[in-house]
Amino acid sequence: MAKDFKIGPLNHVGVAVPDIEAAVETYRTLYGATDITEPFDMPERGLKVCFVNLANSQIELIEPLHDKTAITKFLARNAAGGQHHICFEVADIDQAVAVMTARGATVLGEPRIGAHGTPVIFVHPKNTHGCLIELMETPKEAH
Ligand code: CO
Repeated sequence: MAKDFKIGPLNHVGVAVPDIEAAVETYRTLYGATDITEPFDMPERGLKVCFVNLANSQIELIEPLHDKTAITKFLARNAAGGQHHICFEVADIDQAVAVMTARGATVLGEPRIGAHGTPVIFVHPKNTHGCLIELMETPKEAH
C-alpha cells in the first residue's frame, strides 16, 4: 500500500503577501475573483490567511502577524510577496510522512493542523527542485 502512495489533487497555491487586504483587492478588481474568504488569524503560526476560491483550486494568501514567522523571512527576500508553496492533498498524513521519509525526503517538523482544519506537513524545497511542498490530509467531507 505504501509503495503505491501518491499525491492527490492540487489543493492550493500559497502566496505570501505583505498586506492581505491589498492582495484581496487585487484579486477582486484585477482578476474579477468574487469568492474570497474573510481573512482569519492563525495565532499559533503567527499568520493571517484567506482563500481566493477558484473553480478548480484556491490561492491561499498569507500575511505574517509578527516578525518571527517563516513568512516574515520569505518577505524579507521577496518584498512584494510571491509564491511560497504548493499544496497537494493526501489521503493519510501519517502515511505520507512515513512514505516520503522512506523515499528520502526531508519532511519538516511534525504534522499540525493547517488552515483547512486538517493535518499538514511540509517537504523541504531541496527535494522538489526549489518548490516548498505542503501535503494536506483531504478534509473528510470534501470528496
Ligand atoms: Co498552504
